[in-house]
Amino acid sequence: MKPTTAPKTYRVKSFGCQMNVYDGERMAEMLGERGIVPAPEGEEADLVVLNTCHIREKAAEKVYSDIGRLQKADGTKPLIAVAGCVAQAEGEEIMARAPAVSMVVGPQAYHRLPEMLDKAVRGERATDTDMPAIAKFAALPERRRTNPASFLTVQEGCDKFCTYCVVPYTRGAEISRPYADLVTEAKKLVDAGAKEITLLGQNVSAWSGEDAKGHRVGLAGLIRDLAKVDGLARIRYTTSHPADMDDDLIAAHGEIDKLMPFLHLPVQAGSDRVLKAMNRSHTAESYLKLLERFRAARTDLALSGDFIVGFPGEAEAEFEETLALVDEVAYAQAFSFKYSPRPGTPAATMDGQVSKEVMDERLQRLQAALNRDQLAFNQGTVGRTCEVLVERKGKHPGQWLGKTPWLQSAWFEGDVGIGDLVAVELLEAGPNSLAARLRQPALSAA
Ligand code: 5AD
Ligand code: SF4
Repeated sequence: MKPTTAPKTYRVKSFGCQMNVYDGERMAEMLGERGIVPAPEGEEADLVVLNTCHIREKAAEKVYSDIGRLQKADGTKPLIAVAGCVAQAEGEEIMARAPAVSMVVGPQAYHRLPEMLDKAVRGERATDTDMPAIAKFAALPERRRTNPASFLTVQEGCDKFCTYCVVPYTRGAEISRPYADLVTEAKKLVDAGAKEITLLGQNVSAWSGEDAKGHRVGLAGLIRDLAKVDGLARIRYTTSHPADMDDDLIAAHGEIDKLMPFLHLPVQAGSDRVLKAMNRSHTAESYLKLLERFRAARTDLALSGDFIVGFPGEAEAEFEETLALVDEVAYAQAFSFKYSPRPGTPAATMDGQVSKEVMDERLQRLQAALNRDQLAFNQGTVGRTCEVLVERKGKHPGQWLGKTPWLQSAWFEGDVGIGDLVAVELLEAGPNSLAARLRQPALSAA
């Protein structure tokens, strides 16, 4: 590659999960420390970071087509870095197939992006897909800028090895960030304007650490201490695995006002045979029992889940068990996907791969049920007055979007600003959002 001038502007494009959003923000902060500024809206940047997701189909193909399309106004290519889980899984291939890429950096190595950038400017290509446990966080700059609802990665990686999932290979083994670092980062986020923090981890409920007194604590202990941070009004966490939900976390939902009444707990399927083949450690019944305990602790808890249809060998009757489970739980929202064989995972080579047509049809039926329940949940909250965190402006002048405690989007008009916590009355429900009216005075100030 030819040497080039140092980039003045950057753009980070993050795909996939919220952890990628978090990683994207941290990469942006590092580039900011170097005096590189975000590219103006509508203009291609001197440096583009594609922060990729590998969880489902065609992720890698999408990366190549994105690379092909990147072009600056003068017809030249920007400096291109491929980050995220596709970088981790297919780093060498990317380097071989896409000569326009000068940097490939995995999710555990992106703190080295500035060094790689220096090399790229000199015309040298660099790949870094090492997985040094936790080193990344210590090497990142302090948090200075954030949104009212912000993310904080507390745990990364996964030791569960569900047979369909690529995460244990792309994000590595489970690691928990140290308690003290998390409390410090949460305080910095609050100083920078965060009112709500979502604690992130591929397997967030497996977080464990030592608190300020040297006691071993789990996620509930961390949440209890973060709830004491002045100015922090709301705490959420995602994503959990049913195997790691302990009594303390269940109790926390009943005890900590700042912990929002929302639980994302993926089940994936309703058939015990399929769950076993997926190497999930729960059954449909143990999952339902667990939810009952959460609901007993917090009666207005909104439930969310993830589903995969068409796992290899899934029979029609087994899929119907998923529908039955959905009927029983009545989720407030959920994500559902067609099974996608991920290279290197055990399920990719299992017998009984399900045809696309069958998967399409099952997904439609499942989504119809989930949409029905989501609308019913939203309708069930109409008439309530609740607090929303104002996150952004709406399409119409004077209109705002805020999130309710149950993570619904509520639209309303009034004299408020981004980051305000205000009381609204929920007036009318749609499938994806609610119309609301601002109530004065506000329920509470942040
Ligand atoms: N195919 C389809 N969906 C998948 N997920 C993870 N791996 C796959 C796959 N190979 C879904 C699961 C998980 C969510 C993040 O993505 O439902 O909970
Ligand atoms: Fe995608 Fe999973 Fe990686 Fe997130 S962790 S970026 S969802 S593959």
